[in-house]
Amino acid sequence: MEHLVDKRARSLRDLRISVTDRCNFRCRYCMPKEIFGADYPFLEREEILSFEEITRLAGIFSEFGVEKIRLTGGEPLLRKNLPDLIESLYKVSGIEDIALTTNGVFLPKYAKQLKEAGLTRVNVSLDSLNDKVFKKINDMGRGVQPVLDGIKAAQQEGLEVKVNMVVKKGLSDDEIMPMVHYFKKEGITLRFIEFMDVGTTNGWNYKDVISKKEIHDLINSHYPLESVEPGYFGEVAKRYRYAGTDTEVGFISSVTESFCSSCTRARLSTDGKLFTCLFAQSGFDLKEMVRGNASDEELKQAIRGVWEKRDDRYSEIRTEESQKSRKIEMSYIGG
Ligand code: GTP
Ligand code: 5AD
Ligand code: SF4
Ligand code: SF4
Repeated sequence: MEHLVDKRARSLRDLRISVTDRCNFRCRYCMPKEIFGADYPFLEREEILSFEEITRLAGIFSEFGVEKIRLTGGEPLLRKNLPDLIESLYKVSGIEDIALTTNGVFLPKYAKQLKEAGLTRVNVSLDSLNDKVFKKINDMGRGVQPVLDGIKAAQQEGLEVKVNMVVKKGLSDDEIMPMVHYFKKEGITLRFIEFMDVGTTNGWNYKDVISKKEIHDLINSHYPLESVEPGYFGEVAKRYRYAGTDTEVGFISSVTESFCSSCTRARLSTDGKLFTCLFAQSGFDLKEMVRGNASDEELKQAIRGVWEKRDDRYSEIRTEESQKSRKIEMSYIGG
């Protein structure tokens, strides 16, 4: 097995694959409806990688030591027959862990099939337990209950569940403690994500960020927290547990405590471009090579070339100028 290491000595370990750029939620911090409306140029069917193309590429990535694959979007469960993709990824030699990041509402329908196909874990996005606030965050008038039902369905099938909460000042500050009380009681890991300046459409401003430290200190004043060692090199969430319990809480602090020095992730967009940073402005077109009859060895060489040249560290060097750069949207690259 060949291990790929970039200029900053970060090895390639995880692959995040976006399977659709569409979503049925339109959260304001991700896909505001003024921009992602009916006339938004979402990808056409022929531009999107097929399951066969994704599986072939996953096989090549696994030859570089990638063991973890996370399917994202948009909302990945909007992609037709997603369990079929999971089934074929599960058969790729070397792939040990297949996870999904989802808004959860289709889990009651698909959790069983997903589990049977080989899915191990789901991370469900939920930013509030209060319908009024949740409906202010998503532009489609979605309520909380269908997401909670999705979480239950996933648990019933034996999928490991974590909940992701993006916190934005002035919008969800008061939602932090109710979320903590609820998910602590449920024994489910809740992770707080600092609002990030991904893409160019979400009106990001530093003053809207509530820092990991602020959230940590708030929770710690109610329930003392103990830190937990990372589960693997390059884990993005800083982990803690409520003292005296096995239940964890995590923080993804890309803005105030960046983690680029241990970034081990490659991202494959819905249309088959390889990105080495969530904040990149352009990606390398693997789809063109795949559809141009490139051999596995040629694809390997291309991936090797991209990874070895990589020197991304956006979160470490975020400036007024870099924020204004034309970054790709999160719904397209896959969070
Ligand atoms: P596991 O550790 O496998 O559970 O997955 P994860 O936490 O990486 O996945 P998830 O999709 O739940 O991501 C949670 C948040 O972390 C999302 O907002 C991601 O965009 C963010 N995130 C994940 N990887 C990176 C990264 O490399 N850089 C930055 N800046 N953010 C990341
Ligand atoms: N900042 C931080 N997290 C975001 N997500 C989507 N947009 C943003 C943003 N601007 C989160 C989603 C999901 C995860 C994949 O990324 O809520 O949990
Ligand atoms: Fe959809 Fe997730 Fe983006 Fe919300 S954060 S709009 S659920 S992809
Ligand atoms: Fe990796 Fe880019 Fe995130 Fe830094 S900002 S951790 S380089 S994806």
